[in-house]
This record gives sequence, C-alpha cells and structure tokens, in this order.
Amino acid sequence: MEEEKQAWGSRVGLILAMAGNAVGLGNFLRFPVQAIQNGGGAFIIPYLICFLLMGLPLLFVEWSSGRFGGNFGHHSTPFILDSMDKKKFWKYIGVFGIFTNVAVASYYCYLESWTLSWVWHSISGSFVGQSQEQVANFFGNYVSLTTIEPIIFWIICLTLNTWILSKGLSGGVEKVAKIGMPLLLIFGAFLAYKAITLHTGESGAINDGTAGLNFLWTPDFSSIWSAKVWLAAAGQVFFTLSLGMGSIHCYASYIKKKDDIALNAMSAGWMNEFVEIVLGSAILIPIAVGYLGVDKVMEMTKSGGLGLGFQTLPYLFQQWGGALAIAAGVAWFGLLFFAGVTSSLAMGTPVMGFLQDEFGWKRGNSALAFGCIVFLLGLPTVLFFNYGVFDEYDYWAGTVSLVVFALFEIILFSWVFGIDKGWKEIMDGADIKVPNIFKFIIKYITPIFLLGVFIGSLPGIWNQITNVALYQEIAETTDTFAIEQLKTKMLYVNISRIGLLLLWLAIAYLVYIAYKKRIKEGRFTS
Ligand code: PHE
Repeated sequence: MEEEKQAWGSRVGLILAMAGNAVGLGNFLRFPVQAIQNGGGAFIIPYLICFLLMGLPLLFVEWSSGRFGGNFGHHSTPFILDSMDKKKFWKYIGVFGIFTNVAVASYYCYLESWTLSWVWHSISGSFVGQSQEQVANFFGNYVSLTTIEPIIFWIICLTLNTWILSKGLSGGVEKVAKIGMPLLLIFGAFLAYKAITLHTGESGAINDGTAGLNFLWTPDFSSIWSAKVWLAAAGQVFFTLSLGMGSIHCYASYIKKKDDIALNAMSAGWMNEFVEIVLGSAILIPIAVGYLGVDKVMEMTKSGGLGLGFQTLPYLFQQWGGALAIAAGVAWFGLLFFAGVTSSLAMGTPVMGFLQDEFGWKRGNSALAFGCIVFLLGLPTVLFFNYGVFDEYDYWAGTVSLVVFALFEIILFSWVFGIDKGWKEIMDGADIKVPNIFKFIIKYITPIFLLGVFIGSLPGIWNQITNVALYQEIAETTDTFAIEQLKTKMLYVNISRIGLLLLWLAIAYLVYIAYKKRIKEGRFTS
C-alpha cells in the first residue's frame, strides 16, 4: 500500500517546526559559553554581522533549494543538489547533508538524554542539600557511567525520537513543535525573569542578575580584530540556525511549489535569534554570574560549557529553596529537552527522506533505521565520553562540515544554478519583498565571507588533525599515569576520526548505488 505523501499540516506548524529545528541546545548552552569565551561584548558584534551577511542569506538559499528539489520528489541533499545542475559530482557534496545529521545526532541525542535525566532528578530531589561540589561530582559520575542510568535515559530518548519520527511530519514532528516551542518560551520567560531580577544578597547571590547581562552586552572592541572570535561567531551562527546541515533543505522540500518561503524563512530565523539573543543570554549567564562572579564563570567555561548548565545551575537553583528550586530545575532542563528534541527530529528527517526516496523504505522502518544508526554511532560518545570522542564528533560534524557544505552550496546556488534563477526561486510565492540588496549579498558577499571563514579555519583544522593541543598537554604533564591517559585519549580521538571518515564514505557509496538504481529504473534525477 502506498504511504500517504508527506506534507506539512499548516503554515504555523511549518514555522514552529523550522524554529524548533533551529532552536536547540546550541541556543542555551553553546551560545552563552561562546560569548563568554570570546570576550562577552566583543563576541556580539561579529556574531550579528555573521548573522546578517551569512546566516540570513543562507537561510534563503537553503529554504529555496529545498523547495526546488522537493518539487522533483527529493527530500535529502544529495539529490536536491543534483537537481540544480547537470554535473554529477554535486550529489556527493550532498553527502554532507546526511553525514552531519547522523554524526551530530550521535552526540546530540546523548546530551538531550541528560536533560531528561536532570528533569527527573530535579523532581525527585536528588540535588536537595547537596554542596556545589557534590552536584558537580554527580555530573562527573554520570558521564563516567558509574551506574547504568545514563544508558537507560539515552535509550529512552532515542526511542522517543524514533517514535515521533515514525508518526511523520504533520502527525509527529509538527505536533511536538506545537507543544514544545510554546512551553519552551514560557519556561524561558520564567527563568529569564528570575535571573534578571536576582539581587545581590538574595539567597546568597554576590551580584545582581544584571551584572551578567552587562558583561555580555557591554561592547568590548579589544578582540574584534581577532580571527578566533570571528570564527567562533561564524561557527555559532551556523550551528544555531542549523545551516550547512541539510536539515533545512529537508524540511523545506515538503513545502508546495507556490507556497511562501521568504517570510517563513524570516519568521523561523528571527524566532531563533530571539530565543538565542534574548533568552539564551538572560538565563545561564545572569544566574551563574549572580552567584559566582564573572571571573569564576570565565574560568569554568574555559574547558567547555556543559559544566555550567548541568553542574552549576542545579546547585544554584537549590539556593532558591523548596518548590521554587524544583520549578526552576524542571523549567531549565525541560526547556533544554524541548529545544533538543525538536532539533534531533530535524536531524532524522533527511536520513529518512533519503531512505524513502531512494530505496522505497516505509516511514516506520526508516525512522527505526535512523534510531539504530544513531544508537550505534552514538555508543562511542556515551562509552568514551571522557576520552574526547564527543568533542571530536562535534568538531568535525558540528563545525567543520557545516562550513564546507555551505561554501559549496552557495557556489552552486549563486554561480552554477545562477543567482537570477535562484532569486526567482526565493521570490516565487513570497509573502514579503526581500530587499534587492540580498541578491547582491547572496551572489558576492556571502561566498567571499564563507571562503574567508573557511581559509581562516584551515590552521585550526590542521592543528586538530595533528593533535597539537594533546601533544602539548602530554609535554606539560609529568605524571606518567596522566600521560598514559592522554595517549589513550589520542588513540580514541584518532579512531573516532577514522570512523567519521568511513561514515562519510559509506553514505557516498549509498548515494552512488541510489544513482545507479535511478538510471536503471529510468527515474530521472531532476
Ligand atoms: N540548531 C540546533 C541547535 O542550536 C542544532 C541543529 C543542528 C539542529 C543540525 C538541526 C540540525 O542546537
């Protein structure tokens, strides 16, 4: 029996699903930490510029490419890109749009499962009466797998994702977004209110909540010329808007030919920015700075930001006491959970689209396949979290791949497909008039900007490949046991890289088979 053709149920549903796709853990955990690490106020200026010159244009490009490919029945980037030009190699560029989703989901779903677990522990009172150190140790023990609990929550989380995906777009993804996004906004507003109105002396706070906001929003021009800050800003814009991932293309491929994309893209994109810039900066930082002070917070985020959200906030909430502490815990981790799940669903759909389009899989089976793949590829990030596997996935799939893919796709869109045709695609059915300046930006500025970002990140990529930081750490360590551990870490890191490379090649091979199959069956690719 033919399965019902997938489509979005309503415009609101589409926008919320797209916003849910973009609004993720990146908004609440990654953004504040990137901002702190890159000088607070100094980060915001490059961030906003990257958003305007790269983020917005790429949103138009990805939404319109997706709708374009969708008209030919393609729902994943290999054949969406393929439909835009005759040359055969574009479909292999499209491999990135499946690869990143699978690889990012493999660590993202684990992170998502922590939020579920922390909701549970907030309700069951696990953090009541604990010292800050105890709460921090709780996290350390958790990721060291001293109990089976992390695995159980992780599997619950994967099962939930698989189940929702199996319900389809309007019956699953859209419904969850319609419930999750409003709840997220309510939880976020509650926490932001509590954070901003925090007063020095109140339940042990040493600063007003606004001290954190000031730190973030007082422009600091000292590091504005630093390539590192710009790269971090560009990376954050990519990650938070889900650009260069293939997931926007996939969602957009289910939009009808004449339906608007210009206004929809803006609505979802700006909603993400609202959540990121307003809520993302009004919760974690003000509370943490309020209780701990700027210096301590900066020090804590030196080695990543997960600590603040999971190790510190549950303890700080306890200072509010009783029901309020529980409410805050549930709101914070619940908000993270909704942000996470609406994003991981977006990572599943391109994979499912590919299996359905190319191999005729049923929806349920393709959802199950996604769940199983993420389980297998995620296992190393769960089991060897302390060996840097998680971070390695994030670096290659969640940072480098996005830029590479985006660079190719903007060249394809502006120069091969052609900006005139591209502009027409953007404006077709548009409910707003996109300023003409964007045509110029998409054609010249964004590609040059992206090329700059890519070239600028090459030294960092090279250092990563050659494990410079790890070697340095080994050289500075005297304890032989610690050295052994670092060497083991390097081994795991190297193995996970090879694994990711093999994953990319395996997907490319599947694309090749799909292509041959299309030729044999006489199904034209565009
Ligand atoms: N944009 C999401 C976030 O901010 C992450 C994401 C990446 C979602 C890729 C979908 C696809 O967390």
